[in-house]
Amino acid sequence: MKPQLRPLLAELSAYLQEKAGAQREAAQRSGKPVFDFGIGDPREPTPAFIREALKAAIPEVSQYPSVAGLPVLRKAAAGYLKRRFGLAVDPDREIMPCQGAKEALFHLPLTAVSRERPICFFPDPAYPVYERAILFAGGEPRRMPLVEERTFLPDLDAVSADDWQRTALFFDNYPHNPTGAAAPVAHHQKLLGLAREHGFLAVCDEPYVDLYAKEPPHTAYSVSRENVLVIHSLSKRSGMTGYRSGFMAGEPDLIAKLREARANFGVAPQSIVQQAAAVAWDDDAHVEERRKVFAQKRAVLAAHLKKIGLRTSGEGAFYLWVHVPEGETSELYAARLAERNILVVPGPSFGPSGKGFIRLAMVPTVEDCKRAVEVWPA
Ligand SMILES: Cc1ncc(COP(=O)(O)O)c(C=O)c1O
Repeated sequence: MKPQLRPLLAELSAYLQEKAGAQREAAQRSGKPVFDFGIGDPREPTPAFIREALKAAIPEVSQYPSVAGLPVLRKAAAGYLKRRFGLAVDPDREIMPCQGAKEALFHLPLTAVSRERPICFFPDPAYPVYERAILFAGGEPRRMPLVEERTFLPDLDAVSADDWQRTALFFDNYPHNPTGAAAPVAHHQKLLGLAREHGFLAVCDEPYVDLYAKEPPHTAYSVSRENVLVIHSLSKRSGMTGYRSGFMAGEPDLIAKLREARANFGVAPQSIVQQAAAVAWDDDAHVEERRKVFAQKRAVLAAHLKKIGLRTSGEGAFYLWVHVPEGETSELYAARLAERNILVVPGPSFGPSGKGFIRLAMVPTVEDCKRAVEVWPA
């Protein structure tokens, strides 16, 4: 008899990244150029000074890293929060590093879900890890539909007080993947007010907060520090997806509890990565450069989509959330684009409310974006 693993594993459809990998391999076999707007993993090099910091940090004697992280990294994260948002944050009590936002997000429901509070909210459409994290932790996932008519903000009034009282955590993500929507301060005021009133944790996932096209978005941590944990990542900000590095900021009591919980998980970030992360958080110039590159890609793609009559939404992150042409489904349009080796993700892959959209991650180079619009089907 084979080992009987959790039935949940068979129930979850193939993770987005795996599916996209298979699609890319098929396109590559065609021998023609592939324009991969699928997974949000940009191609721009990691700035040289960050790579150098990693190399220089390789120690002669290697020892276990601590869950709390290196002081130099916590200080750099606090310095970033000060420069970017004007926040005074205690680096030793309010900051904790993680191995990228995904790792932190996945483990949070394990620390929050209980029999009394099984409910965890997550946006629909959304980055798929929220729902999966809730399911693996044995929580009760609840979708929060984000529709264009509500500018992709959840209807917090639609939840009953009874349900809020049984809520462990609420995943929130602005600037939002996949819609690119931003949230006004009023949204976070309301959400964090509910979190305080009903005693749940608002997890505000903010990996795109520095990749703005117009006004710099706020962090939820500037709205309130109670019952909130914000998560920041170097993946997109600094071109460091492969390093797996981010940090969480929250009230000292919350961080202390998470530190204890996380000591069980084996997720303390490698110290060489932490040293590289510290220099990345200390610098803003390379992020400005990245914003310029994404703005060029956005200009090429948005102009083309407008020309062929397709509406897009959202200004934040590096995604374009595109209405499919009249009479087509997300899947059919994505398949039609794939015939020209233009790979995109059908909206419903991010949840049922993604119906009628496709998502473009602006990851190919500017030159490839220009080439892609030349072969785009009418
Ligand atoms: C909304 C959102 N959160 C988190 C992540 C993962 O970030 P990290 O690379 O820091 O794990 C992504 C990656 O695409 C994302 O879109």
